[in-house]
Amino acid sequence: MLVEYFMALLVIMGLSATFDKQQRRHHHSRSHSPYFGFLASATELSNLIPDSYDGGLDPLFDNSTNREIIAALGTTARLHCRVRHLGDRAVSWIRQRDLHILTIGIMTYTNDQRFLARHIDNSDEWVLKVVSVQPRDAGVYECQVSTEPKISLAYKLMVVTSKAQILANRELYIQSGSDINLTCIAPQAPGPYTHMLWHKDTELVSDSTRGGIRVVSEQQMKTSNLVISRVQHTDSGNYTCSADNSNSDSVFVHIIKSEQHAAMQHEVGARLELPHLCLLLLLLVAALRPL
Ligand SMILES: *[C@@H]1O[C@H](CO)[C@@H](O)[C@H](O)[C@H]1NC(C)=O
Ligand SMILES: *[C@@H]1O[C@H](CO)[C@@H](O)[C@H](O)[C@H]1NC(C)=O
Ligand SMILES: *[C@@H]1O[C@H](CO)[C@@H](O)[C@H](O)[C@H]1NC(C)=O
Repeated sequence: MLVEYFMALLVIMGLSATFDKQQRRHHHSRSHSPYFGFLASATELSNLIPDSYDGGLDPLFDNSTNREIIAALGTTARLHCRVRHLGDRAVSWIRQRDLHILTIGIMTYTNDQRFLARHIDNSDEWVLKVVSVQPRDAGVYECQVSTEPKISLAYKLMVVTSKAQILANRELYIQSGSDINLTCIAPQAPGPYTHMLWHKDTELVSDSTRGGIRVVSEQQMKTSNLVISRVQHTDSGNYTCSADNSNSDSVFVHIIKSEQHAAMQHEVGARLELPHLCLLLLLLVAALRPL
């Protein structure tokens, strides 16, 4: 207990050079005090520690990385493992199903060329890349550090086989001034909570400064509605719905002026029949109006 308070005091003082490396190392290896957890996650603090100091610390995981990875069939999955104070140890990726060692350091140790290790020099990130994800790749992977004893962190890879789908024609012609209501479904998305995102061209719809946009998502049902009221010319574009990082679906929305409407109507079919009738009625009223 005393040692822990002593450490906390040192943390507050900004870790002076007089800190006893040996004592600290000893302390870390036999307990997991909350102060040490704090030490590990505080980046400001690690900036205060001289580089040479790392050598005195045992490796530990930065466990803030995402450890449930969802990848769509055929895409590339990336599992990010961050290890602090690695020193001269190696980071390996192990497939838990068969305890196959996939990579050690940046070398691949499997005949399956789809597994690659990525590491940027002097960074603490060790990424397992799985190219062209297959259903059989789903499962648990371990990021392992060659300490004595070994330490490891488990990652779960989920493979999604069905894609998100917008329930509409691939090209839509919408009259300016009317509302758009696009429905997207992702029935096979894993997990009860599916984040469905809408993009217009490359912009996230929720970041848009245009008012009058609503996204109504039903997470349990895995559906999402994008409602845009009183569309205008600038709302034309490529609308994409994606569920987690599963495949996405896109439709192209053309906003047409009222005059264009009659010309477009045979392409649009029954969808715009009612507004079309309204337009005819309007024209009729205009024609009958005394000049
Ligand atoms: C890392 O793991 C420890 C112990 O399991 C936990 O107390 C801590 O909150 C985790 N840190 C983060 C950033 O998730
Ligand atoms: C949009 O369409 C969905 C599905 O047809 C419907 O449930 C929802 O109420 C509609 N929303 C609006 C604002 O019209
Ligand atoms: C729409 O956007 C998606 C995702 O960015 C892209 O794959 C697709 O090719 C685009 N479609 C058109 C017609 O631009």
